[in-house]
Amino acid sequence: MKHDGRRITMITAYDATFASIVDEAGVDVILVGDSVGTVMQGVSTTIPVTLDEMEYHVKMVSRAQPRALVVADLPFGSYQINPSQAVESSIRLIKAGASAVKLEGGVPMFDSIAAIARVDIPVMGHIGLTPQSYHRMGGHRVQGRQDGRDAGGRERLFEDAHAVEQAGAFSVVIEGVPRDLAAAITEKLTIPTIGIGAGPDCNGQVLVLHDLLGLTTRQLKFTKSFANLRETSIAACAQFVSEVRTGSWPDDAHSFH
Ligand code: KIV
Repeated sequence: MKHDGRRITMITAYDATFASIVDEAGVDVILVGDSVGTVMQGVSTTIPVTLDEMEYHVKMVSRAQPRALVVADLPFGSYQINPSQAVESSIRLIKAGASAVKLEGGVPMFDSIAAIARVDIPVMGHIGLTPQSYHRMGGHRVQGRQDGRDAGGRERLFEDAHAVEQAGAFSVVIEGVPRDLAAAITEKLTIPTIGIGAGPDCNGQVLVLHDLLGLTTRQLKFTKSFANLRETSIAACAQFVSEVRTGSWPDDAHSFH
């Protein structure tokens, strides 16, 4: 798709119902993201999400038997120790039904990406604002605004992108970096880049489903609500509450005889 100039679309999903909805919409890739922590579990970062939990969500998504490629996030602590741990955790997510895994980090993750790819598990990289690096970044902060080779520096992000590609990743998410930097990285790489908060020049775009549907209350500069399902859902639930309280539902037509 990169070579043909066709933009790649990726949306997160965490269960069978929503996986079938995004699949029917024609998305190319379903990401079982560790954003499940922040949008479904009610935690403020992705750090507490466990491999057991990711396995559970991958199983639910894969039961929808989507046509789209299912990519599963390796959660924090499931791959950082060494490449063997990264391979073992990846195997668990593939056995649960994913077709590929994603992990965060560039240069320091070279050996782990290579080890996963060596056992024929397709790997997607993730560089820039990597939410699992929350404490190092000092929050969810845009990366690549400063020059330099330290983590999060502009030159370092080029090195991260190059490392991910050289290690054997089939694509890479670029999150939370200035538009011009994401464009320059996209130009340099042969593998496709998928952006989130990285401007329009990446080879594809990803959004968190709950943001896209307007189910969350958070307002992030780089996301767009393509619907307002929170309001629609509240109105529907309020209508149920009202009809039950007034006795107008269930009526005879919704009763067994
Ligand atoms: O977990 C997730 O949803 C992600 C996307 C934001 C890329 O990693």
